[in-house]
Amino acid sequence: MTFPPGPRGVIEVSRAFRAFSDNPSKQMLALSERYGGTAGFRLGQENVVFLGEPDLIGEVLLDKDGAFIKDKVTRGLSIIVGQGLLTSEGELWKRQRRLISPSLTRKHIASYAEAMTRSAREYAAKVRADEVRDVHADMAKVTLDIVLVTLFGTGIERGHEKVGHVIDDLMADFQEVIQSWRRLFPEWVPFAARRRSLGNAKLLDAVVFDLVKKRRASGALGDDLLSRLLAARDESDPTRGMDDQQLRDELVTLFLAGHETTANALSWTLLLMAEHPEVDAKLCAEVQRVVGDRAATLEDVSALTYTDAVLKESMRIYPPAHIIGREATREMKLGRWTIPANASVLISPWALHHDRRFFDDPEAFRPERWLDGSTANLPRHVYLPFGGGPRVCVGNHFAMMEAVLTLAAIAQRVRFERVDREAVGVQPAITLRPKGGITLRARLRSGQSPTLASRQTA
Ligand code: HEM
Repeated sequence: MTFPPGPRGVIEVSRAFRAFSDNPSKQMLALSERYGGTAGFRLGQENVVFLGEPDLIGEVLLDKDGAFIKDKVTRGLSIIVGQGLLTSEGELWKRQRRLISPSLTRKHIASYAEAMTRSAREYAAKVRADEVRDVHADMAKVTLDIVLVTLFGTGIERGHEKVGHVIDDLMADFQEVIQSWRRLFPEWVPFAARRRSLGNAKLLDAVVFDLVKKRRASGALGDDLLSRLLAARDESDPTRGMDDQQLRDELVTLFLAGHETTANALSWTLLLMAEHPEVDAKLCAEVQRVVGDRAATLEDVSALTYTDAVLKESMRIYPPAHIIGREATREMKLGRWTIPANASVLISPWALHHDRRFFDDPEAFRPERWLDGSTANLPRHVYLPFGGGPRVCVGNHFAMMEAVLTLAAIAQRVRFERVDREAVGVQPAITLRPKGGITLRARLRSGQSPTLASRQTA
């Protein structure tokens, strides 16, 4: 048994590290190709393993022996999300997952379809013919509206909506620190980004605790996630719910885990559709056939199979969560490898999705591959936009429903075109963002006038 092969010596390792910092997933694919799947190296005191073999990835994600915890970067997010689902471990995570997942099953999120369609149609109605827009900024706004309404309900008071911007600012500062040399310094070193974060964290707590307190006091529970989490009770002890701190952590977690990822998925999809007018035309034809001009509903989602395939293919090419990280809590055997205690084990959905061992012509955007049977025999743990195993994304149905309904609403009225031919770069932060946004020109579908579209939104 051995540590996986990989770059060795100061020069090779620092070159690999630099390439990793620039684009972690691309570097993982390069190392996987060079070392036959899995590669490992030592970075200072830290052992890092890039895992590229699906059966071993399955072992890590399923984690039957409870040998893995989340990696350092994910754990670092607890500065923002505390001990919510994304960062908690052990018994706390198990209990919270049991309490929260029933609120995010297909059946329970059905009532959010209307809010999703409404926000997306309001956006589409505002788009003017031939204007050039940054659709990444647009999708961030649409998904922000959706997450605020679904988390807190429509009665959100003035001032409370700033919760979204505060979390986004916290995330930006967090990314700034972890992507630079500043991450090597202990947490108490007061860089500007960290000082700002402390102020923002206080502001966030004040707003979220206020929302929770008011909702508890009013006793008026609705359909939003805050109400559901307030009503959630432990099966083993029906008197036990979540205290305010836990509720705060879970609300911020759901916001953080669900907002930017979905915004990125939609932005990349709009770019790919602009680059592939034939896909855009097919998707539009499906929406016309299934939905026509009315507002799309939950019942339409399962009939929009091509739209679903476009999203699956877009998340194959640009998986919003492009790295999934774990840390080994003890030395262990993984296939033929020895993984030392405390090693970081990194899985890259991006590298897997672009690997020609698994996908025919992996760089081609071809939604049909999800409909014509060519992906029917994919090995398990190869297509991982939502992760896998017990810690699979708890919001995956929510995200797919939101993305399908948003795309449908946009396709009813607007088609986007590239403004220039320059490739849009990726900015692989915690999520896979487009570098510098995505600038596209909007064309109204024929027969669409702004007045007609606003009437449809009403
Ligand atoms: C396209 C959109 C989304 C993508 C690509 C995505 C991706 C992922 C992935 C890959 C994981 C697993 C991380 C790991 O194993 O370390 C995850 C976990 C999680 N996601 Fe999502 N997600 C999306 C949308 C959402 C939404 C809308 C919500 C909430 C409504 C959400 C809430 C969560 C939470 C709470 C976790 C942690 C689950 C746990 O550890 O038990 N996500 N997501």
